Amino acid sequence: MPARVPLFDRRCAHSPIQDKASTADSGYFRFAGGVILDLEYKQILTGDGSPTLSIAPTFEHMHAIEGAFTETQYIYQPTVEKAFNTVSKPVFLSLGLGLGYNELLIAFESLRHGRIPELIASYESVVPLKEAFESWLMNDLVPLTPVYDQITEMYAEKYDREPVLAKSLLLDLLQENKLRLLGPVEKEVLSPSHAILFDAFSTKTSPELWTPEFLNGFFGSAAANPCFMSTYACNGELKRALKNNAFILDIQKGFGMKRESTFASKSAPQ
Ligand SMILES: C[S@@+](CC[C@H](N)C(=O)[O-])C[C@H]1O[C@@H](n2cnc3c(N)ncnc32)[C@H](O)[C@@H]1O
Repeated sequence: MPARVPLFDRRCAHSPIQDKASTADSGYFRFAGGVILDLEYKQILTGDGSPTLSIAPTFEHMHAIEGAFTETQYIYQPTVEKAFNTVSKPVFLSLGLGLGYNELLIAFESLRHGRIPELIASYESVVPLKEAFESWLMNDLVPLTPVYDQITEMYAEKYDREPVLAKSLLLDLLQENKLRLLGPVEKEVLSPSHAILFDAFSTKTSPELWTPEFLNGFFGSAAANPCFMSTYACNGELKRALKNNAFILDIQKGFGMKRESTFASKSAPQ
């Protein structure tokens, strides 16, 4: 078993708000699928009662400790909604899958709008996370089942829809190859997308996803016309790459302890 690394939070490592979050569970699961893959993780309860995860080796939290569910709504819901309002069959790009908050958000927004996405391309470098999410969609019991169920219940309550509707919508999309659970984003082909949910780990954990080379190429290939993008982050490299690719920036207040977050859009040519 790999050595445990101390907890590290990407957004407020020394914040007093940390005591709003608590480690609910930790685990280590072995996922067979031809190859044996291990994932050491900690499950953390955030300030709004929703779960997040931290994974080896850095144990960076996937969400703000103030509230994973609330953060997802604040940062990503407007982008998903704009895509549904603007494009009849939107293509979504989610970087990365993590616990699937953004995929479930797209599913519930899809139910709300009564429209089906053309594609949800979801990138994740950690194979057990992709396999666990896929297995959960197929109703197999996996160690993260209670976590996915809890997240789905929270959305179901907010959207006033049965949880099973969103789950079966995602399963249908998966079986039609319209939900694609893909590998590391830098190694995959990108489809031009109308909504980009850029939820990579921080520069400390995923430096390769924050270089000017990666960001310029990524937005150049991944942005359709129109395209809406949001992220919890706001840094110079990101803003430059968006501007280089004809996005108009809309810098908003950050979530929780973050000062600023980035929303951006690129319109269809007149
Ligand atoms: C902040 S978390 C995403 C949280 C997720 N959006 C959610 O709401 O649950 C970042 C995710 O990106 C994944 N990741 C790291 N490097 C990646 C890469 N090169 N390509 C795709 N995903 C990557 C991590 O494993 C992690 O699951």
